[in-house]
Amino acid sequence: MTSSEDPGAEDPKELRFAAPRLRRAALVTGGARGLGRAMAMRIAAEGRDVVIADLLEEQGKQTAKEIAALGQRAIFCLTDVTIEEEVHSAVEAAIHAFKRLDILVCAAGVLGLEAPFHEQSAKQFSKVMSINVNGVYHAHQAAIPHMREGGWGRCVTITSGARRGSPTQVPYAVSKAAVYTLVQSLGNAYSAEGVFVNGVEPGRVLTDMVVPRFSPEHIANPGNPLGRYSDPEEVAEVAEFLCSERNTYTTGSIWSVKGASG
Ligand SMILES: NC(=O)c1ccc[n+]([C@@H]2O[C@H](COP(=O)([O-])OP(=O)(O)OC[C@H]3O[C@@H](n4cnc5c(N)ncnc54)[C@H](O)[C@@H]3O)[C@@H](O)[C@H]2O)c1
Repeated sequence: MTSSEDPGAEDPKELRFAAPRLRRAALVTGGARGLGRAMAMRIAAEGRDVVIADLLEEQGKQTAKEIAALGQRAIFCLTDVTIEEEVHSAVEAAIHAFKRLDILVCAAGVLGLEAPFHEQSAKQFSKVMSINVNGVYHAHQAAIPHMREGGWGRCVTITSGARRGSPTQVPYAVSKAAVYTLVQSLGNAYSAEGVFVNGVEPGRVLTDMVVPRFSPEHIANPGNPLGRYSDPEEVAEVAEFLCSERNTYTTGSIWSVKGASG
């Protein structure tokens, strides 16, 4: 008798979408504030335990406290993502506290100096690359072995439309192009083992990285089709999907959340 003839047989498609809801654990770099904080909160709201890895101790501990108030376990790990050992320690903290690591969100990042290329020193370039690229690299290297071991994993990194080029943000633009390629490179690498690697590409989001750069008038009316900036929570919604069991077929993709086409 084939499974189609057996009314009691489990439909593999049904099973895929009804994947058992394990108590999964996430690591969010840059989770102290801004987009990382919103993603950590959104993922925690789905019943995940979370490690916040950030340089901002007070704000990071506050995010962890707010996650605990949702009923999840949360710890803050003082981490500089440019230092490989510190990123590995944050992953080990997750394994120690939660006995697993299933989800990685790389939100730690800096814009760096906004200035013409001839004013961007090599030191400035290295600093931005070290945080925005090396940090993401270290995090995937540290996290993916645990995901492979568990047979399931979801990684999401925040890229930016600046990856297409920006004359006044050259280091930032290059760094975001680099992580775009990293996501595409890893998208297929472990997908057969259940580990999906994706990215989200926000437009302009109201965070501490962006707000100081613009006048209140511009922020109130940025002149884009939706007539407003996005809130971090709108980007977090998409990231949460990519990090979830509901994501059964997306890997190596960068999902745009920029309120416009093109
Ligand atoms: N805000 C936007 O409009 C926008 C648009 C596109 C992409 N992004 C990207 O989203 C990510 C988050 O940005 P945001 O807008 O939330 O900015 P933010 O400045 O509010 O948050 C960045 C977080 O990264 C942390 N961080 C910075 N350097 C670190 C380091 N060396 N080690 C550990 N943590 C470090 C900061 O402490 C902070 O908590 C960045 O990668 C940024 O490039 C933001």
